[in-house]
Amino acid sequence: MHNGVKMEKLPSRAECERIIKPLLNKGRFYHSRCVADEAIKLAKLYGANEKKAEIAGILHDITKNMPESEQLSIIEASEIEIKSLRNALGGRKSRLWHAISGAVYVRDVVGISDADVFGAIRWHTSGRANMTLLEKVIFIADFTSADRDYEDVGEMRKLAQESLELAIIKGIRFTINELMEMEEYVISDSIETYNDAVLLLLQGKEHRPV
Ligand SMILES: [Fe+2]
Ligand SMILES: [Fe+2]
Repeated sequence: MHNGVKMEKLPSRAECERIIKPLLNKGRFYHSRCVADEAIKLAKLYGANEKKAEIAGILHDITKNMPESEQLSIIEASEIEIKSLRNALGGRKSRLWHAISGAVYVRDVVGISDADVFGAIRWHTSGRANMTLLEKVIFIADFTSADRDYEDVGEMRKLAQESLELAIIKGIRFTINELMEMEEYVISDSIETYNDAVLLLLQGKEHRPV
């Protein structure tokens, strides 16, 4: 998996776009650019690292269009444990895999060793307990980017300007509702993300614009 290339510093936006372009379809490429733009805005608003937000945003879906088998071999070649998740999901295609394979691909193939960027990609679909500020920024940017047009996107964008946790609660509610409608697997990380956000709000410790 390791190609031996390690980048000393974060690559430029243009370099990242060159890397993802052949890997993604047109729509996914456009989405990635929109998420990067949205992530920069949210990073500015909430005081996160703008450069890392931009790079994590542009790369977050890097393996989204890869065949499932390829994604699995990327994950299996890494230290990340996916066995239980794979068993739980049976043979069904998982929207969660691209977050894991994407983070590993960015680290081991693209050669970006930044742990914050890794985490932001790793957790962008499910969320997790105790998310970092950058992880929250990417998680929400994926819901509120300019290309999104689901029914409640206006409300989500409004909440994202008020508090990251308010947006997280709405986003998780939306995702879990949808999964439950289809009687699909709901990963416990998402429930923990939701609970964390609720608790932070109750304690008045949520992220507000700085
Ligand atoms: Fe994604
Ligand atoms: Fe995405």
